[in-house]
Amino acid sequence: IPRPPRAGKTHRIMRLEIPRDCERIGSLQIYGLQKVYELDGGTGPHENDSMVERVPGEVLHDRMREMAIVVPVKNERLKLIEGVLVGIPSPCQVIVVSNSPRGPVDRFGLEKEALENFGRFTGKKILVVHQKDPGLAQAFGNAGYEHLLDETGIVRSGKAEGMIVGTLLSKWLGKKYLGFVDSDNYFPGAVQEYVNEYAAGFAMNPGKNTFVRISWHSKPKVMENNLFFAKWGRSSVNSNAMLNRLLTQFSGFETEIVKTGNAGEHALTVDLALKLEYAAGYAVETHHYMNLLEQYGGILETTDPDVLREKVTICQIESRNPHMHESKGDDHVEDMIDASLSVIYHSPICPELLKREIMDNVRARRGEAAPAEVAPVRVYPSLSELNLDEFMAGCDASLNFNAVTVRA
Ligand code: GDP
Ligand code: CO
Repeated sequence: IPRPPRAGKTHRIMRLEIPRDCERIGSLQIYGLQKVYELDGGTGPHENDSMVERVPGEVLHDRMREMAIVVPVKNERLKLIEGVLVGIPSPCQVIVVSNSPRGPVDRFGLEKEALENFGRFTGKKILVVHQKDPGLAQAFGNAGYEHLLDETGIVRSGKAEGMIVGTLLSKWLGKKYLGFVDSDNYFPGAVQEYVNEYAAGFAMNPGKNTFVRISWHSKPKVMENNLFFAKWGRSSVNSNAMLNRLLTQFSGFETEIVKTGNAGEHALTVDLALKLEYAAGYAVETHHYMNLLEQYGGILETTDPDVLREKVTICQIESRNPHMHESKGDDHVEDMIDASLSVIYHSPICPELLKREIMDNVRARRGEAAPAEVAPVRVYPSLSELNLDEFMAGCDASLNFNAVTVRA
């Protein structure tokens, strides 16, 4: 296709709402949900007004060049994984952390081959690593972070564990920002949108400690032969409600600011990711909120005053594409809710009154089967406990040869 003559540069612009509300708790600020007005607002004027921010495409791409997108994989269909990669804008470094079996069928081998080919065609920067790579486990061991290893000395299974691996590999590759995108998303366009919103969030909040969380506008479901676009899933309703109750009890003012209590689609600065605890299982996202409140909320007396001087920002953006991922059955939705509520319940900052409300919630959902107390979930200590230099040396020594297909 011949290139059209160009009259100077075109500046694609993304238009988003400027958040209206903000809750401040210690040095943590939580901004209200921001709507996206135009994914591509053309090349119009650059000025912002008081309601709408215009983020130029160049600015988005600048952020993406410093961003790693971690894609956790376990036994997904190759077509789905490939679709997700199609949606990730090319300036980003992709990090695929796979926990797919290597036998009897070597699914990981197939993934690696497919991704290698894809990387070659598109010129995308893709790093593929297996969660159970012995070199990786050794790097964790040498760095004094055995928490992640099982009895056999290999990294444990689980998405949260894969996220921790991805976080550290982002650091290894020298990235400043880190975003997560599940590998079972049906719509490349949704993935592309999430990454643009991550970049917009970082552009609007240039601090060292920024957390961008996505709330889906809708999730399509088939009901009585029609498509129905649900806005809130049951697990987000419950975790958002309890997080908002918690904030309400701290400030004495009722709030509904939290809309992304278990937002799987999220991005944060690598600096912040290295300071946070990760909970295992379904609780990882809700626990990030709790851990931010514990570390930066000024609620616990033991908090280090230096830490409290650091400003931390949570930015919540409402995406426009419907979110649709591989349906794996809804059997575990009650467990997901319990896991999210458990990290709130077992937090040292959870007031007695809220503990009672949480148990009322559990009993209302579980009836006779409700336990006397929600079971605690495994929480991995902050990565600040890991010796970064040792970890990086371990990656340098082993990953280049074992696990990396295409590197930056
Ligand atoms: P849901 O979307 O919360 O119902 O959970 P999924 O089963 O779809 O998992 C979310 C994402 O994590 C998907 O991309 C999975 O392929 C991936 N995943 C699940 N378990 C593991 C794991 O043990 N390790 C890694 N690396 N990824 C996983
Ligand atoms: Co999924």
